[in-house]
Amino acid sequence: MYSKCHLTALPVDLKPDMNKKLHRFFTNDHQRLEQLLDKATEKPGEVDLHYYQQFRSGLLRHIKMEEKILFPAAKQGSEELTSRLFPRYRLEHGALTALMVPPPDATLIKVIRHVLEKHDLAEEEPGGLYDICEELTAGQTQSLLDQLEQVSEVPTHPPNPIPFAIEAARRALARANYDFDEIAGSKEPS
Ligand SMILES: [Fe+2]
Ligand SMILES: [Fe+2]
Repeated sequence: MYSKCHLTALPVDLKPDMNKKLHRFFTNDHQRLEQLLDKATEKPGEVDLHYYQQFRSGLLRHIKMEEKILFPAAKQGSEELTSRLFPRYRLEHGALTALMVPPPDATLIKVIRHVLEKHDLAEEEPGGLYDICEELTAGQTQSLLDQLEQVSEVPTHPPNPIPFAIEAARRALARANYDFDEIAGSKEPS
């Protein structure tokens, strides 16, 4: 049920810069965030909130870098292509952002890891989002890297335990074609 098949049908002639500097920049950040989440969940049965907060604010900044710098620049390269490509990523960014609100427990972390793994893979895979954006922004790479370095932190509130927060996350996941309970393992796959 997960939407996965967006790239193979896209009529883009991919000749990405061999250096793939944007790809490397964002992929390194994915790895950094994954390591922070690993550290936050190192001890079974507990979440280290110091590392979790670093993961949380880092992920929100990463999403901001994609939405505010990378996507607008790629859109200038092809409005037609990006209008078909970006919605899936925007919905998943919305879902991930909503998942940053409730207090982290084992279930929430499981769902975050699941969505993040699929999302990051689709961005990184050959011919994926980053390769396409690299191609569409050829010639502006250094300027974009400079702008990306300047992106400020996203202010965060402490995790919010009100039930509305987890319900909002469930709905944001559903909009992105994910089922919270199915991922959490509390419901059979439909
Ligand atoms: Fe993303
Ligand atoms: Fe990303």
